[in-house]
Amino acid sequence: MMNKKSFALALGLSALSFSVTSQAASVASGKDAFEACRGCHVSPGASNVYPTYYVPKIGGQVAAYTVSALKAYQSAGRSHGTMMANTQEMSEQTMEDIAEYLATDKGGSKRAISNHGDIAHGKKLSGTCMGCHNDDTTAGSSNPRLAGQHANYLEKAMQEYKAGTRPSPLMQSMLQTLSEDDMKDLAAYFTSLQGLTAVK
Ligand code: HEC
Ligand code: HEC
Repeated sequence: MMNKKSFALALGLSALSFSVTSQAASVASGKDAFEACRGCHVSPGASNVYPTYYVPKIGGQVAAYTVSALKAYQSAGRSHGTMMANTQEMSEQTMEDIAEYLATDKGGSKRAISNHGDIAHGKKLSGTCMGCHNDDTTAGSSNPRLAGQHANYLEKAMQEYKAGTRPSPLMQSMLQTLSEDDMKDLAAYFTSLQGLTAVK
């Protein structure tokens, strides 16, 4: 039998462990939280209004990257009106739940819209990218998948890194010597691969 003192101690300990242990990411909670996001991320080929580019495919995206992307919008490190508004009040737990849901959701449309760049030239240039963007989705990686992403979204991301408006010193240095045409061709190559899907 527990005496009064050890019971109080046990309670204190369980309260402590509750406050320091974060919950494991939950696919079911992530799916619920994603309801507000479906309008844009479910239809294959939904377009951002201005500037025009296709809404990125995020089904099957690497979870750690999704969390870092959501945090970047929340902290305004990455600017996009709707995405900043959607993440304003979002807890880290919700971000992790959504990321886990998206990482496991692979049943949506695979349709990827190209930009008619030179795929063969893009493939040649992609050698330096493959160390990080080889479509390895094993846990531990935080590099985004690019395979199967819409081309004009990839181009826009590269242009923003190069200009420094989307901050990533790493990606800025990777793209420094590439021309607009090179980036178009790289985008065409990654779009031609199978990988990301729209969310089901
Ligand atoms: C009005 C349309 C719209 C809604 C609603 C919306 N998104 Fe987005 N989302 C976009 C667009 C457009 C982008 C690309 C923005 C940019 O260029 O940075 C984006 C980007 C993202 C990215 C980064 C993708 C990448 O490859 O870096 C993630 C993750 C994401 N959204 C998740 C969500 C989640 C989670 C919600 C709901 C809480 C949501 N979105 C709601 C349109 C939307
Ligand atoms: C050393 C690892 C590394 C290499 C090499 C690399 N990248 Fe990246 N890339 C990253 C990381 C990390 C991010 C996420 C940066 C961020 O948080 O915005 C990223 C982001 C991107 C994105 C944005 C994806 C999205 O969903 O918004 C594109 C496009 C991209 N890289 C293209 C390339 C291309 C093309 C090359 C080769 C010329 C390349 N990368 C080389 C690590 C790398």
